[in-house]
Amino acid sequence: MSNETISGFSKLSKSKKIDWIVNTYFSNQENAKKILKQYWNSDEKLQQLHDEFIENTISNYYLPLGVAPNFLINNTIYAVPMAIEESSVVAAASKAAKFWLDRGGFKTTVISTTKIGQVHFMFHGNTNHLKAYFKAVKPKLLEAVKPLSKNMEKRGGGILDIELRDKTDQISNYFQLHVSFETADAMGANFINSCLEQFAKTFKVEALNFDGFTTEEQQLEIVMSILSNYVPDCLVRAEVSCNVEDLAENKSISGEEFANKFIQAVNIAEIEPYRAVTHNKGIMNGIDAVVLATGNDFRAVEAGVHAYASRNGSYSSLSHAKIEAGIFTFWMEIPLALGTVGGLTNLHPLVKLALEMLGKPSAKELMQIVAVAGLAQNFAALRSLTTTGIQEGHMKMHLMNILNQFEANAEEKITLVNHFKTHTVSHSAVVEALEKLR
Ligand code: MEV
Repeated sequence: MSNETISGFSKLSKSKKIDWIVNTYFSNQENAKKILKQYWNSDEKLQQLHDEFIENTISNYYLPLGVAPNFLINNTIYAVPMAIEESSVVAAASKAAKFWLDRGGFKTTVISTTKIGQVHFMFHGNTNHLKAYFKAVKPKLLEAVKPLSKNMEKRGGGILDIELRDKTDQISNYFQLHVSFETADAMGANFINSCLEQFAKTFKVEALNFDGFTTEEQQLEIVMSILSNYVPDCLVRAEVSCNVEDLAENKSISGEEFANKFIQAVNIAEIEPYRAVTHNKGIMNGIDAVVLATGNDFRAVEAGVHAYASRNGSYSSLSHAKIEAGIFTFWMEIPLALGTVGGLTNLHPLVKLALEMLGKPSAKELMQIVAVAGLAQNFAALRSLTTTGIQEGHMKMHLMNILNQFEANAEEKITLVNHFKTHTVSHSAVVEALEKLR
């Protein structure tokens, strides 16, 4: 391992960057270069587009883009694009989609779409003076962002409200401008952050002219201005329901027995954080895959969803299940800040394709589709966990990874996929069968 550092790396050309990387970190430099270049696109314009998404691009990092068809959501059928590396996720989503296709499909509603941003600042002085200042300056704040909010307002969005929040019980002198936004079909991060930075500027400058302040009070200290990825008021609900007896697929387990076991599993995730985290990870398998495929910010979604899962003081299941009057219902409400315009959505050809496959959804429609992918994934995981266990399905999907790892040829793959239809897949069993074959 080299301890070398470099200055001005970002200013080097792509090939010089690669030279430095391979010379510094690789013993087989030609091979390292070959691997990096293998993933370049031969279409130079397309490659340049990808190079310019971020700084210091040296290659492209591929993930499989899969499709889970047969999703019935509010009477419309969708084929859902999913970008993910985990072998069993798309298969599980497809299975759950098919299962609910025959039982009325998924029902969804968008509960709310409000996003939040905050200007964090310090004020040294009389809180009543600050309240009077806020009242006086609020119209000026709204006026100052008009050039930024004009377009958003045309699209049905804009600033909903600005509140002054006193946080001095937790940090001395700490206050916030707590701003709520509607961002229509945009995820809105750029819009929100631009508005907040303008609010901060105007708020600081106008304070210097406010008569109701002492000289010290006029010196407001802005700490930072940034959107919040916690979006508990940008909420979507997804649900499935059917008669309990319709849950039975074969004679091995009755609908009632299945429903009871399933509900037990959900109840455990509701009270046990160790289980809840894995339970919710399964939900995020579905959510992240669609969020990524549609060019949205999965880190923002992850952060917001997990914060929401702990909103009552302890980390808990995002999904819930019950039986009432013979009807099994399984549902989830989650916060999702998504966009179908702006950002990568207009830029990345595969993202555009994924959105077109979904019928060019609005942000609200995409929230519903993404929530369904999460609920379907959770249903599939719990169904396996409470019946056969997940390894059976998981290892079947993983079989191909093991075969590829040992560079099995097409013929060997066919033979061994057939063989493992009736034998238990394990790493050693696959290696052994492959060795026998060779
Ligand atoms: C694996 O990626 C996800 C699961 O562990 C989810 C769960 O346990 O519910 C199968």
